Amino acid sequence: MGFKVKFVDPGKNYETIKGELDAVYFEVMSKGDLIDREQLKRFEKNLARFVGTKYAVGLNSGYDALHLSLRAAGIGQGDEVIVPAHTFVATCSAVVNAGATPVLVDVGTDFNIDAEKVEKVLTSKTKGIIPVHLSGYMADMVRIMEIADTYKLTVIEDACQSLGSSMIGKKAGAWGLTGCWSFYPFKILGGYGDGGAITTDDPEVALFATRMRYNGEDRETGEYHGHGYTCLLDNIQAAFLDVKLKHLPEWIQRRKKIAEKYFKSLSDLDDLLLPHYNDPRRDHVYQNYTVRAGQGNAFSEFLKEHGIEVLTQFRKPYYKHEALGLRNAGFPETEALSREVCSLPMNAEIEDEHVEYVIECVRKFYKIGKAGAVK
Ligand SMILES: Cc1ncc(COP(=O)(O)O)c(C=O)c1O
Repeated sequence: MGFKVKFVDPGKNYETIKGELDAVYFEVMSKGDLIDREQLKRFEKNLARFVGTKYAVGLNSGYDALHLSLRAAGIGQGDEVIVPAHTFVATCSAVVNAGATPVLVDVGTDFNIDAEKVEKVLTSKTKGIIPVHLSGYMADMVRIMEIADTYKLTVIEDACQSLGSSMIGKKAGAWGLTGCWSFYPFKILGGYGDGGAITTDDPEVALFATRMRYNGEDRETGEYHGHGYTCLLDNIQAAFLDVKLKHLPEWIQRRKKIAEKYFKSLSDLDDLLLPHYNDPRRDHVYQNYTVRAGQGNAFSEFLKEHGIEVLTQFRKPYYKHEALGLRNAGFPETEALSREVCSLPMNAEIEDEHVEYVIECVRKFYKIGKAGAVK
């Protein structure tokens, strides 16, 4: 179905920076700079500077960033790692594939792990915690770092959805042993295929990831330092991402303006909870504008029928997928919000008139809904 208002619009985004992207494309293609060249190093330097860490290591995906972080921390067989019940499955799969056991914790009303519930699930086997900064809003890292310091836990931040967000002025991805990034095309910094990275202040973690992404090889000496993987960020992706990273601050400002507009025009609706939280310490970059709509499916279907592309992640929590073999109980907030979540179109390219149209349709739904025409 062709949507009148797209959730994200990579084609339109390309048009806005076409000259710059085409220039790096021609540079990479004509020089044949395909694997581990200066474009990758430049992007890593700029990403580390943007996040505020000493190092960044480009990888193939956010999943690889999580998995290599766990491996770098020495977490594996016999260890437990705390993860939120409401997140993308990769957060949990990385733990399982590293050989460790995920321990799920419910989230709070801000969609992020409920720090107050973390202490209740600690055991002598707990080695790490992966807070996820969902939708562009950070988990309460002040509290999580306190808990981690007390119980000597390794913190790996799943920051895949929150590049640019911060708490008390410190950016997501700069708090834990590592920050894990995804440059999947739908992300706030999206590539043209899969991509990811680790940010860290720890030189050994950076070195470990740099070797492991290239089958364990030290590229200078040729020595293998362990059984590794093939998960290097492609040079051409790094070149594109570096162009886009320069524009990210202005794109975030545009997202904040759209969020403000949604808030001003929709905050009076009783059945709709908007993602605006009362914590001046945390800065939301609105990778996703995820609302909670009392009549979840009816709401999202109504918007789709009106040509508005929305995302309803995650209607079925990952722990309910039988094949994953996870414990499936005791997450009331995750259960409630999974029935209600709906992310409205949010990207720097949306025109004002389309934002107005989304608002008009949301208001229309509630008017009709109250009259009983929409079930
Ligand atoms: C919260 C979260 N964690 C992990 C990932 C995994 O990233 P990737 O798809 O690049 O492997 C994603 C992205 O899809 C994500 O949103």
